[in-house]
Amino acid sequence: MSFTIIDQATARLNRSELAVPGSNTSLFEKAAKSQADVVFLDLEDAVAPDDKEQARKNIIEAINDVDWGAKTLSVRINGLDTHYMYRDVVDILEQTNGRLDVIMIPKVGTAADVYAVDMLVTQIEDARKQTKRIGFEHIIETALGMANVDEIAAASKRNESLHFGVADYAASTKARTTVIGGPNALYGVLTDMVEGQEREYHWGDMWHYAVSRMVVAARANGLRPIDGPFGDFSDPDGFKAQANRAACLGCEGKWAIHPSQIALANEVNSPSEAEVTKAKRIIEAMEQAQREGKGAVALDGRLIDIASIKQAEVMVKKAEQIAKAG
Ligand code: GLV
Ligand code: MG
Repeated sequence: MSFTIIDQATARLNRSELAVPGSNTSLFEKAAKSQADVVFLDLEDAVAPDDKEQARKNIIEAINDVDWGAKTLSVRINGLDTHYMYRDVVDILEQTNGRLDVIMIPKVGTAADVYAVDMLVTQIEDARKQTKRIGFEHIIETALGMANVDEIAAASKRNESLHFGVADYAASTKARTTVIGGPNALYGVLTDMVEGQEREYHWGDMWHYAVSRMVVAARANGLRPIDGPFGDFSDPDGFKAQANRAACLGCEGKWAIHPSQIALANEVNSPSEAEVTKAKRIIEAMEQAQREGKGAVALDGRLIDIASIKQAEVMVKKAEQIAKAG
């Protein structure tokens, strides 16, 4: 272990994060009653410029009046390059009752962006003598944000999570795709020409590097890595495949841009009963091994060691968190 201890962000379930446009008030109550772990009320890209001010008012009312239960509640503010952003922060923090948990900052590009919002939020909280500290969720969705992802992840004690915003990331990097998330048939390899054998085309995951890179920056700073949107809400199998491959890389949640994606995201990002049982057996076997002075033992014909305990403990802790949330 390094001598550097990584502080972990405020622990929250973040298996599913439901996007709700601030301009669509009819969705607020439904979102509050949904099974989403986190709901973010959007002021940014799902809201047209002419609707921004009304959406801000709607969101203030919803934070104050809707019963959000035990959900983590977030607002996606507008980008720092817009004149909406300062009012988003000021009005929302000054005119709400302290129920808001986190602010989502889109298209964050540098650590200075985080610093600027931190400064503004801190002044408002201090002026209102508010002891609850708002957390930050950052969307990594530009080439600049990805180039500076380590600095962004380390830029504030308010930081809680990094989110991969695949749609804007594709636009920013000029990636050749027009869908939101998901695979691209052009991104693949053709097997070599071998006489007598048919060549095969294997699809790849064009987002592998970006998601992986973000996961490393998030985990190295004690933050939650979360995979962003999958646009085709009529394709549950496609959604699950995307969510699973992000979870394999270390993400602990995924956005839902449609209510039907909430249950899928929760399912993928919850350990199964079999996984939890196995994890508990690993912990027991390792405890026994340690009592016998051994560093590694065999379980079901496979080697397990100290690293296996850590993996198993992560699994068991997540299951406990989910059970507690009911
Ligand atoms: C999310 O904001 C995205 O751009 O994918
Ligand atoms: Mg975006």
